[in-house]
Amino acid sequence: MAKWMNAGYNTVYHHTISHHIQRKIQPANTHNRNPEEKKMTFENKVYAITGLAGIGLAVAKHLYARGARLSLADISASALQNAVSILTTESPDPNDNNDRILTTELDITNRAAVDAWITRTTIHFGRLDGAANMAGAIGRKHGVGALLDQDDDEWDMLLRVNMSGTMYCLRAEVRAILATAGTGSIVNAASIQGVRGFALHAAYSATKHGVVGLTRSVAKEVGPAIRVNAVAPGSIQTPLLDKAVEIQGGKLNAMPTVFPRLGTAEEVAESVGFLLSDASSYTTGQVLSVDGGWDP
Ligand SMILES: NC(=O)c1ccc[n+]([C@@H]2O[C@H](COP(=O)([O-])OP(=O)(O)OC[C@H]3O[C@@H](n4cnc5c(N)ncnc54)[C@H](O)[C@@H]3O)[C@@H](O)[C@H]2O)c1
Repeated sequence: MAKWMNAGYNTVYHHTISHHIQRKIQPANTHNRNPEEKKMTFENKVYAITGLAGIGLAVAKHLYARGARLSLADISASALQNAVSILTTESPDPNDNNDRILTTELDITNRAAVDAWITRTTIHFGRLDGAANMAGAIGRKHGVGALLDQDDDEWDMLLRVNMSGTMYCLRAEVRAILATAGTGSIVNAASIQGVRGFALHAAYSATKHGVVGLTRSVAKEVGPAIRVNAVAPGSIQTPLLDKAVEIQGGKLNAMPTVFPRLGTAEEVAESVGFLLSDASSYTTGQVLSVDGGWDP
């Protein structure tokens, strides 16, 4: 196992956190850049990212290439391994021996494990500046199951992952940012289905509407110190979309978009990067659609 991998980490170090944090807080070093560059750089800043298969991986690539230190978490060990391999291959950093990446195998529905992950992140890096909460799930009948056939276990699973899991992450991240960097920015993954209704998607759509409500409300509690926004992707080419296509018999439901194509994870990552950066310093509580102009 690579030295930065630590699968199954679940120990809480509450008694040592403040000591380590006080010792390790360092200001981000951006003084040599011009003002425009400064807004978009993430140099020396620390970001927590969940969900590393599709959009989360693209966000990690975006931030890593711009100098960020990353704490990556996913329920899938192979998604984490793949992410580390891609990041270090695409943006090799001769100076840091890969110590800009920390990985944790994590189920975001486990509150204690989420808290332990964020604690581990601040102990390891000394600070937290922001987060991209991209982990999410679809059900077995995504786009083909009516409410009247809704399976209760599936409904509970979607609420646990997409809503409770996102809330656990957001809560732990807000605490850690306030205790370390003091200010920051967090982006949650909503969906086109969090801002519109879609037949045969009630459960997933309800959870994504929940993410929108969580984002808008928490932004008002924790601002201006911490900005909280969401992205609402349309149909984006990722493993999740492949799964949806398979469930829907090999073809996607029609997309009434301006662009007659799927979006890419990188296109969503550009918007997440904007919301995490100082370029969006006056924007909070917003849901940014990245959907190709759905239903214009
Ligand atoms: N791809 C799209 O078309 C699309 C559209 C709208 C919204 N979204 C949302 O964007 C986010 C990212 O989507 P994606 O397409 O990259 O998905 P993906 O399935 O490609 O990647 C999601 C990642 O989350 C991880 N994950 C799932 N459950 C988890 C859990 N309980 N704990 C920790 N990790 C978990 C998976 O292992 C996977 O690596 C999701 O929240 C999704 O709902 C995606």
